[in-house]
Amino acid sequence: MADIAAVAFDSYGTLFDVNSALARHAARLGERWQAMAQEIRAKQLEYTWVRSLAGQYHDFARITDDALAFVASRHGLTDPALLSQMREAYDFPDAFPEAAGVLAEVRNRGLPRAVLSNGSPAMLAHALRTAKLGDLLDAEWSVEPVAAFKPDPRVYRLAVDGFGVQADRIAFVSANAWDAFGAHAFGFRVFWINRKQQPDEYGLRGAVTELPDLNDLPALLAA
Ligand code: LAC
Repeated sequence: MADIAAVAFDSYGTLFDVNSALARHAARLGERWQAMAQEIRAKQLEYTWVRSLAGQYHDFARITDDALAFVASRHGLTDPALLSQMREAYDFPDAFPEAAGVLAEVRNRGLPRAVLSNGSPAMLAHALRTAKLGDLLDAEWSVEPVAAFKPDPRVYRLAVDGFGVQADRIAFVSANAWDAFGAHAFGFRVFWINRKQQPDEYGLRGAVTELPDLNDLPALLAA
């Protein structure tokens, strides 16, 4: 196998804990905050897929607005101040504890690093800067130029063009199984960060490298 020459990271779920946004409002939302966080994430992703297939792109910030509005309405939440605080929290989710150290270690190995994400450029920049991850990356690639979301192959091609490296020499790291699948189908060397120890999906197990978190990634990149 060809050596890995560059590393592309998914953002939400992989470097950032998407549920951490609502966790901050747990006191006001009560026990339902976890269910709501999952519903918002599920709607957010559904909207990306439907809008991609329908050719009706809206950027990820607007998709997130729509997902939050739908779930808030379903739960009968109407307080505008709470809704706007909940929405703001999605602009600066917490990074997973190991993310910065792992990015630094990959940098120390001399490998170019980038984020390749559904996120809109401003959302991504804000989150990466707030979590102090931006300086550890060479590039932040949003789907914006192709106006479609993952797993559209045109999105993955942004990393090939951006790095100037062929797909089978790019390590693609994602905690989202469907994204790992799309990236594998595209031809990347995929590292599936199965944080919640989910069962196999899309035939990933055996086809890609599965890890419980990012910690062991740097050592495996040399292989
Ligand atoms: C992203 C989505 C998959 O960051 O969360 O691209």
